[in-house]
Amino acid sequence: MTTILAIETSCDETAVAVVQNRQVLAEAVASQIAQHQVYGGVVPEIASRQHLEVINVLLQQVQTATGLSWGELDAIAVTCAPGLVGALNIGLAAAKTLAILYQQPLVGIHHLEGHICAAYLTDPHLQPPFLCLLVSGGHTSLVAVREGQTYHPLGQTRDDAVGEAFDKVARLLGLGYPGGPAIDRLAPSGNPQAFALPEGKISLPGGGVHPYDMSFSGLKTAVRRLVEKIPPPLPVADVAASFQYTVVQALTRRAMRCALDQGLTTLVVAGGVAANRELRQTITATATQQGIRVIIPPMKYCTDNAAMIGCAGVIRLKQGQGSPLHLTSQSRMML
Ligand code: KG4
Ligand code: ZN
Repeated sequence: MTTILAIETSCDETAVAVVQNRQVLAEAVASQIAQHQVYGGVVPEIASRQHLEVINVLLQQVQTATGLSWGELDAIAVTCAPGLVGALNIGLAAAKTLAILYQQPLVGIHHLEGHICAAYLTDPHLQPPFLCLLVSGGHTSLVAVREGQTYHPLGQTRDDAVGEAFDKVARLLGLGYPGGPAIDRLAPSGNPQAFALPEGKISLPGGGVHPYDMSFSGLKTAVRRLVEKIPPPLPVADVAASFQYTVVQALTRRAMRCALDQGLTTLVVAGGVAANRELRQTITATATQQGIRVIIPPMKYCTDNAAMIGCAGVIRLKQGQGSPLHLTSQSRMML
């Protein structure tokens, strides 16, 4: 049994969890949505201050819930990249302090590796190889996860991340922050066929279309033009539904093509946008028809959380990949 305390502070959720192998023993999350909502997006300075205010409270809660002393752990895992540097530094400072006090190994985790590893919490028997459609606020890609938990990028967005597109379109429609959940809630009351929107395609130099790469900035611009063109009142639910339909089709098509081409029979969908109900339904139905097994973590493990970081920490610790105490945060880092 490997028991890990995990800390995640890369953006606007402060999260702490204790994970034992692939099981969550205790977890606590403090969302900062209310603090950022008035500004229409995440304000980095406010994020850092808020993490600092709540992190000790969450650590205490999780410790009480498990009844463990931090000296009984096997390691402390912490998100070190990518993300807001000031926000990451709060988690890193807490993790390093505890590592020194309780003489625990420190394991720095890539945030996106955490999102992928959320699948192991969902299916304790899951093993590579599998394909992961990684869809978050800052990242959109198709990654083959192979033996030894190695990552092989196969396709990606060439411009906006899909979560970013949800957030920007929600702002255009006056739905506020965070935009993804707002569109998810509104879209079922609209007509997804009301407006034909362009599914961004990437042309190849020799002709044809890149099979796995994606683009979402053209779609966002098309929604902006539509909003400017339609005389009021704006059919907000129809625009939201049409946008969401186009995105879900684009993601589902790329993921299916990639899985079939690569001979990967398991598809994991991970990251904040994997919480989207239409994406979950459509991709599950389509993949199942093609004989592909789909694993999508429950909503709380799609958006940012510490359990996924703990799960990644268990894997890295077992591989002997600890981090030095001078581990630093990085705003950008390849997976
Ligand atoms: O993974 P995540 O929590 O943070 C990052 O690592 O970026 O993803 C946040 C993104 C935001 O863009 C948010 O709007 C989007 O995930 N999101 C959703 C939904 N819930 C969160 N997008 C569509 N539908 C949702 N239900
Ligand atoms: Zn995330």
